[in-house]
Amino acid sequence: MCGIVGYVGPRQAPSVILAGLKRLEYRGYDSAGIAVFEKNGKMAIRRDVGKLINLESMLQESPLTGHIGIGHTRWATHGEPSQRNAHPHVGMNGRVVVVHNGIVENFMELRAELEAEGIQFQSDTDTEVIAHLLECYLGGGAALDDSVAKVLRQLKGANAIVVMDLEQPDTLICARLGNAGGIAIGLGENEMFIASDIPAILEYTRDMVFLENRQMARLTKDSLLLTDLDGNEIVAEHHAISWDPVSAAKGEFKHFMQKEIFEQPRALIDTLRGRVDFEAGRVILPEMNLTPELAQRLKKLHIVACGTSYYSGLIGKFLFESIARLPTEVEYGSEYRYYDPIIDEDTAVLALTQSGETADTLAACDQAKAQGATMWSIVNAIGSQAMRISDGFISMQAGPEIGVASTKAFTTSIVDQYLLACALGELRGALSPAKLRQLVDDLAQLPDLAGRVLDHDAEYRELANEFFKAEDFLFLGRGINYPTALEGALKLKEISYIHAEGYPAGEMKHGPIALIDESMPVVALVTKDHLYQKMVSQIRQAKARGGVVIALATEGDEAIRHEADHVIYVPEAPALLSPVINVMPLQLLSYHIAVRRGCDVDQPRNLAKSVTVE
Ligand code: AGP
Repeated sequence: MCGIVGYVGPRQAPSVILAGLKRLEYRGYDSAGIAVFEKNGKMAIRRDVGKLINLESMLQESPLTGHIGIGHTRWATHGEPSQRNAHPHVGMNGRVVVVHNGIVENFMELRAELEAEGIQFQSDTDTEVIAHLLECYLGGGAALDDSVAKVLRQLKGANAIVVMDLEQPDTLICARLGNAGGIAIGLGENEMFIASDIPAILEYTRDMVFLENRQMARLTKDSLLLTDLDGNEIVAEHHAISWDPVSAAKGEFKHFMQKEIFEQPRALIDTLRGRVDFEAGRVILPEMNLTPELAQRLKKLHIVACGTSYYSGLIGKFLFESIARLPTEVEYGSEYRYYDPIIDEDTAVLALTQSGETADTLAACDQAKAQGATMWSIVNAIGSQAMRISDGFISMQAGPEIGVASTKAFTTSIVDQYLLACALGELRGALSPAKLRQLVDDLAQLPDLAGRVLDHDAEYRELANEFFKAEDFLFLGRGINYPTALEGALKLKEISYIHAEGYPAGEMKHGPIALIDESMPVVALVTKDHLYQKMVSQIRQAKARGGVVIALATEGDEAIRHEADHVIYVPEAPALLSPVINVMPLQLLSYHIAVRRGCDVDQPRNLAKSVTVE
């Protein structure tokens, strides 16, 4: 996934674009570049490999000026990270310049056709194919809009592009094909902005329009023309974005991930806001468009997601089956779309996705809708594709999550599934009013419990100092703590690069216990629940083999001190909501270990915040 910014208006385009790219750098940081049309009517480009800071230094040494431009931060797909592969890319006649997010799946055949016509390629990217194809159509006399539409119709795969044409120096054209990363258009006073994500342009305007699949827009500083790829005008749907720009900044924290971990008490309050009537003991989810008929007709629920969101879905299974008595399956988006799932009109499919733009998850949604399922989503990014294609949705309302490692989106998505399960349970007659009231009341304590976990941050930092040199970690849990163990392992591996595995504790004796020795720390989630004793015996098995055990236990459990080498205490939480609390020490332990190892916590190597390509 890449970051794109475009600007046209009275400001200096380079500074607007650079500031925007900084807010998008989490989307990709293999290289960065910017193109502007200068007052002398010439196109000027600066590009460099590596992080944005390199482009910034280049611009300080060799500044650009201009009132229209486009910029890009790259997460490399085709062509290794290098200056020659950095966007923007120029067509063979030096007339058009393009930035691009997504993958042109048929780019090799298109490139071969262009090379057969004698066109020389300057890079290894699929993007350059787009630039040359545009010049071919323009050279044949086609209008710019028409050329863009023609090129997009030739491309296979999900793609989003922004184009400038030297012969129309006051115009930006942006377009979206499939589920590539979104395109947000910001409408200002006598100026227009384009960005892959809201935070890049939020300081200038809150009035936004989002491109949908197979839509394009022609922008000048004071006009917006939205059409489909056949040139039919579309009435733009404006969104007033309520996020405040400050919340998209680090503030007094060292990293976005740290800030977002500490924002969780607030995020939990925000995700409950307007959705729980504590007086009446009920849940209200207007955007879900639920009806008794629909809720009672449903025979099964499929949850589709990737990464951390998938682990949230594994927890959701416990919630929907226990509270709403709705049979639930959970599947990776990347698998779901290829194994021909059994879907019909009595199936609901729930997509869990912070970004709302994850290609594998969106492809699963497309499949579900095509087969007649009711499509729901729980999403954080406002106006994202997943939200727009759903029959009903719940916004996580967690605020921007910038750190690549997902934290507050994980905990709020669990709570949102809990809310949905309660609403469905009531409509399906699976919950007595008294039981529903108890479930609703249990929500009230969450923000405070989360705050109490954060108060012990210093202990987690101490523990990190003891274990940051480990090269392998094991996270064990049972029942609803098993997905939490999986998430703890993912947090550690993706930001510290330590090999970490989450495992169902009961499975250890079927093989993995052979791994355990004194060099393999074992994090055992052993909070007070019906599986506590089973977990204690697992801890003893690990200890008997020389393992070093870090127990995550319930406050007040003194006995566990005699079983484990280290104990992390968490406040007791209602069983079905316990993952929200139990995961937080694991987030902080991983964070501190990664910091101690000198890793780039917010922009871990090889990763991007939202994977908008397959
Ligand atoms: C989690 O920390 C990772 N950044 C990654 O696994 C992420 O959860 C996954 O890519 C799904 O993203 P989404 O929630 O935006 O769909």
